Amino acid sequence: MTLNLDGLLSDRARVRGVDGVIGGLRRQKKDAIPLHYGYPYPDSYPLEEISSAARSSILEDGCESINYGGADLAEEFSRLVMQRLGKRGITCREEEMLVTSGSSQAINLVCSVFVDVGDRVLVEAPSYMGGLNSFRNFGADLVPIEVDELGIRTDELADRLSEWRAAGESMPKVLYSITNFNNPSGCTTCEPRRRELLDLAEEYGFLILEDDAYGELRFEGEDIPPLGAMDDRGVVVHVGSMSKILAPGVRLGWAVADERIIQMMNVHKADGGTSPLARTIVGAYLRETDMDARLEELRAGYRLRRDAAVGAMEEFMPQGCHWTVPEGGYFLWLTIPEGLDSDDMLDDMAEEGVKPLSGRQFYCDGRGARNFRISYSYPEPEAVRTGIELMARVIRRHMEAMEG
Ligand SMILES: Cc1ncc(COP(=O)(O)O)c(C=O)c1O
Repeated sequence: MTLNLDGLLSDRARVRGVDGVIGGLRRQKKDAIPLHYGYPYPDSYPLEEISSAARSSILEDGCESINYGGADLAEEFSRLVMQRLGKRGITCREEEMLVTSGSSQAINLVCSVFVDVGDRVLVEAPSYMGGLNSFRNFGADLVPIEVDELGIRTDELADRLSEWRAAGESMPKVLYSITNFNNPSGCTTCEPRRRELLDLAEEYGFLILEDDAYGELRFEGEDIPPLGAMDDRGVVVHVGSMSKILAPGVRLGWAVADERIIQMMNVHKADGGTSPLARTIVGAYLRETDMDARLEELRAGYRLRRDAAVGAMEEFMPQGCHWTVPEGGYFLWLTIPEGLDSDDMLDDMAEEGVKPLSGRQFYCDGRGARNFRISYSYPEPEAVRTGIELMARVIRRHMEAMEG
């Protein structure tokens, strides 16, 4: 007998169904070039160092390293993360920081604490599908705000907010922003717009959830202070992660915010504690590692890949295609000519031997048909180049078919 779930599902689960699955990974050649993974490149995983940190740290902290709570090295992890945040201008006390199972959990906790069904939440258009899905799971009414090369359009945001206020409509509770090297567009919000965001949050009384998964991976241009560093009014929840600078599988992230917010997020966490084992191992790893030197290497690795990607775009993409040129992070965002549909090309691209992601899943309002997210982070530069050449071949074919 199969259990009938109909009467058991929460309203949340009923509304969401099973549509949160990443699309775009359909028929594909096994050896297709992966331009869809938002993963670090394989050579960057410090396997030896993590293995030896695992052994020595567990022996050092003994049973407590794998008990609820963890011991000294688990604490060391928090201390070293706070130290790194401090270098970027984000100073916080212990009570203002929460270690989470990846930044995904921190995002979910913000939803849990702040979002009721029907609440307005502002999101960038385009934005990270994982973040969008978290807000959807909590029944948020997502409102897209455009992003351009200078980041989120604060002029558009200001107009929307003042219209809503004039009409007596409910105000948004949260704005979700990936300030550095946005996933998927690769764009970064410039400093003047960051200041405007903080002013608007204060004026209209909403919270900014700053997702800074890629903030330490700038390989070109000047660093811009994170909102978490610029905020002196307590309107920002800053979240970060080890996923892109070490390895996603350690599942370690954090949130920094006003102590009251952190306390409430902790109440809703209810998970028995973020893996003491992972914190112990990574605590020992960080203690032994010159992270500044490691980050320099990573930046060089991503710069090479970005250069390969942009070079291939210039060489192979047909006229009428446009793309962003990111100064850091993992992604660039391709726009194809009017009339084409990226979803319709995925199978052909997989046949050719390349797998990008199509654009629709990065918008909350069904747009994205003319976009691809190209992740250059994982393959070797040569493979990034070949992958883009193969994509271009398919796009050209579809353009020729459209033109008849
Ligand atoms: C913008 C952004 N935020 C959050 C995450 C999730 O990161 P974590 O592995 O820390 O949960 C990702 C992963 O791709 C991301 O791109």
